[in-house]
Amino acid sequence: MSGPTSLELTKSIALLTKLPMLLLNFKHFYDGETYLQIEGDVSDEEVIIVQNTAPPQEKNLIELMLLSQSLKEHGASQIHAIIPYLCYARADRERISGEVVSHKYTLQLLKSAGIDSLITINVHNPAAYHSFVPSLEKLNLNAFTFLAEQLKLSSPEKEWLIVAPDKGASEDAKTVANILSTEAFWLEKYRDPHTHEVKFKPPSFNTNDKDVLIIDDIITSGGTALKAAEIILSQSPRTVSFLFVHFLAQKQTIDAMYSLGVERVMSSNTIINNSIHQIDIAPLISNLLLEKYL
Ligand code: R5P
Repeated sequence: MSGPTSLELTKSIALLTKLPMLLLNFKHFYDGETYLQIEGDVSDEEVIIVQNTAPPQEKNLIELMLLSQSLKEHGASQIHAIIPYLCYARADRERISGEVVSHKYTLQLLKSAGIDSLITINVHNPAAYHSFVPSLEKLNLNAFTFLAEQLKLSSPEKEWLIVAPDKGASEDAKTVANILSTEAFWLEKYRDPHTHEVKFKPPSFNTNDKDVLIIDDIITSGGTALKAAEIILSQSPRTVSFLFVHFLAQKQTIDAMYSLGVERVMSSNTIINNSIHQIDIAPLISNLLLEKYL
């Protein structure tokens, strides 16, 4: 069943897995609230709901919880939620006293709404994700292998060199580099103690004649990506492109990337954006369902 956010993705998954689709009627009221009506008998059925929690996060989250609660009350035996982008996942610890660990409480809310298991893609901190709410079964797909395989097929002419914008993304950079049979490097990022501005040290690796691919799990303000592109472009590579999993940046960030001289901006379609090249993750999710449940 698709929630209000994910009809196209759910149709693709249903087609690829040959699973039947439960119909949902919904509309948005004048005040912004959502009317939901599930069609069909769900008693003793295992239901997979696909609902994203990309912006507007709170609305999408509550729709998922309302649907899940209702399915359980109508007798669904198990509820699996596929959430391509899980919101509130970056507040994963109490960095300063009193800071709300939103990631943990979001998972608790999902569990309390009747969800038995979650399938997510590249959550920000997999270790924290798996440690919170152990009674909620969780599977977190790393899309980078799949994305790199698609890129290998679509751009065989490229002489890739993979760059992570910080150490945190270096393992993903290695994953991508392995598939593209090349090397991976990471940039040394530091924050100016006075201005708090993010800066990069000049890279120590050679980018001559290379098609540099900067990879990251997520882009929001675009600050990290734009600075990384600037420093790499100053090293005169052949081209610079980006590959993200979750693309939450605005149009002006995309324009700024192209103005700098970036060749291609790519991401998965966990969050739909028609202004960049997106790689469909429906086969990745479908393969998991076929392996795990069918
Ligand atoms: C950081 O750990 C993440 O991987 C991203 O680099 C960061 O969240 C991107 O944020 P922004 O686009 O606001 O720089």
